[in-house]
Amino acid sequence: MRTVVVTGASSGIGLATARRFAAAGDHVVNLDVDKPVEPLPRIPWTEVDVADWSAVAAALEEVDRDRGGLDVVVANAGISIRHGVLDITEAEARRVCEVNLLGVLGTWVAATRIMARGEGRGVLLATASVNGLRGYPNYADYNATKAGIASLCKTFAMELSPRIRTACVSPGAVMTPMQMAEYSDEMFAETNASIPAGRHAAPEEIADAFFYLASKEASFLTGHELVVDGGETVGATTTRWGGAWT
Ligand SMILES: NC(=O)c1ccc[n+]([C@@H]2O[C@H](COP(=O)([O-])OP(=O)(O)OC[C@H]3O[C@@H](n4cnc5c(N)ncnc54)[C@H](O)[C@@H]3O)[C@@H](O)[C@H]2O)c1
Repeated sequence: MRTVVVTGASSGIGLATARRFAAAGDHVVNLDVDKPVEPLPRIPWTEVDVADWSAVAAALEEVDRDRGGLDVVVANAGISIRHGVLDITEAEARRVCEVNLLGVLGTWVAATRIMARGEGRGVLLATASVNGLRGYPNYADYNATKAGIASLCKTFAMELSPRIRTACVSPGAVMTPMQMAEYSDEMFAETNASIPAGRHAAPEEIADAFFYLASKEASFLTGHELVVDGGETVGATTTRWGGAWT
């Protein structure tokens, strides 16, 4: 039985991922700033803001003390704020960077310190996004944090191989509360039309990718960004965008 920590597992992709590992018999802990959207009897929740490195480190140390080790960490917690470049405020941009990018870095650093003390083995995973692969209007800060996660993934692999593996999943459009809060029916229809698969992913399809990346079957894979997007980024279609002044 592995010990697995998932951040942001109270909802959406993190929740599906925590359930995927728990269903396989792993011991899973959820670090989230909010309580789970539904009761999760076998997945304990600790209230943690991932932007707070000491709180994350303390929570991971507690898991290590309780369980005698830490095998897999999925740094998934993230936020997005829809705003054009002319409307971004400093406070919003700082929060997006602190949660999405520094939150992953702090979680991985704290987890690495723990993994390095034991057998020096483990798997560090994170949720990036296809938004980090290309320009995407109204999410400049968010997109940059997701590109940053793919970069962290490569550098951690260089420093920590061969004992600790790293990987991130870059989902395309996933039907989660985050997406539902930001999109109108028209936006959903437009997005689905631009995805070869013709639909959003279910959170469980992203959870399966994390489960694979943590498995023995992925033992020769590190520093990798796994795009799970129903083909959204394989073509050359450009989003028509009139710019901020039109
Ligand atoms: N939904 C999509 O289409 C999509 C696509 C690509 C990437 N992602 C990424 O997937 C991840 C999960 O998003 P989701 O769609 O499941 O959203 P969600 O809002 O359903 O879940 C996000 C979870 O993270 C938690 N969280 C937010 N800020 C936190 C903080 N500071 N500390 C701890 N927990 C915090 C929330 O409470 C929530 O439980 C995010 O990193 C997001 O950027 C989502």
